[in-house]
Amino acid sequence: MLIINTISEIRAYVREQKRDGKAIGFVPTMGALHEGHLSLIKESTDRSLTTICSIFVNPTQFNNAEDLEKYPRTFEADVEMLERAGCAAVFAPTAEIMYPKGTPLGFDFSPLDQIMEGKFRPGHFSGVGLVVNKLFNIVQPDQAFFGEKDFQQLAIIRKMVYDLDMPVEIVGCPILREANGLAMSSRNRRLSEHAKNEIAPAINQALMSTAQCLRRLGSLEKGRKAFDNVMSQHPEMELEYLEIVDTATLETVERLKLGQKVTVCVAAYLEGVRLIDNRTFSI
Ligand code: PAJ
Repeated sequence: MLIINTISEIRAYVREQKRDGKAIGFVPTMGALHEGHLSLIKESTDRSLTTICSIFVNPTQFNNAEDLEKYPRTFEADVEMLERAGCAAVFAPTAEIMYPKGTPLGFDFSPLDQIMEGKFRPGHFSGVGLVVNKLFNIVQPDQAFFGEKDFQQLAIIRKMVYDLDMPVEIVGCPILREANGLAMSSRNRRLSEHAKNEIAPAINQALMSTAQCLRRLGSLEKGRKAFDNVMSQHPEMELEYLEIVDTATLETVERLKLGQKVTVCVAAYLEGVRLIDNRTFSI
């Protein structure tokens, strides 16, 4: 597996692959890789694509300096995992390479970025849009793989690709969870064992309970109450938001309709770590 740090080298590698008739599958990440990331790599290699993974902790999408500083960095282990997963090349640039003249351009995805992650992390999606756009221009993938774990991010990237006629197919991949239901995340490494095993899995339990309630009783209020009932057993966790949105439009659901596809999204803090999760289902 190749490890490439510069834009010119990754461009040359992609050119060579395309000249040989290979299609490129691309998995952008911020490293600290886990099975969830590897499932995206697998989806790409299963499609017989030359798979390129980027590892770049993108400063422009962090609205909190401490969060950026504390973001786990495990490059050696990441490289080993990617090699075993059949990844062809890793693109790991520095911030100086990606932003030599500071941070150009911003992206406005409103109304998609006015709620949930966008509301609580101002500027976050502008930075995500910027870096993904740059990475797409550098890697020029035929297909790019994103996890449903970041439900709103996936919707925003689909919108960007559609609105800007970008020649890349976006593939959404299901959320990988630990056996106890906790959504895998690089940030889970910052949790104590107790928090990871005994407290954080309640987020998924609360989501499942909400889903069941919304489907069975058709009441938004009861669904929210079901969520609170589970979460209130774990006062160590501080809820930032719970949103029930239409899966296609991301609009807040005011009234449930039979057959409607909805997504329940949550962000919560535990031991100073920000965790997000979601569940999609039909009413
Ligand atoms: P990162 O958080 O490293 O995630 C990289 C990709 O892995 C994203 O598409 C994310 O949704 C997916 N992923 C993370 N946990 C997952 C899980 N448990 N199951 C399935 N997929 C999972 O998302 C980013 O990085 C950045 O915003 C990025 C797109 C790289 C731009 O900087």
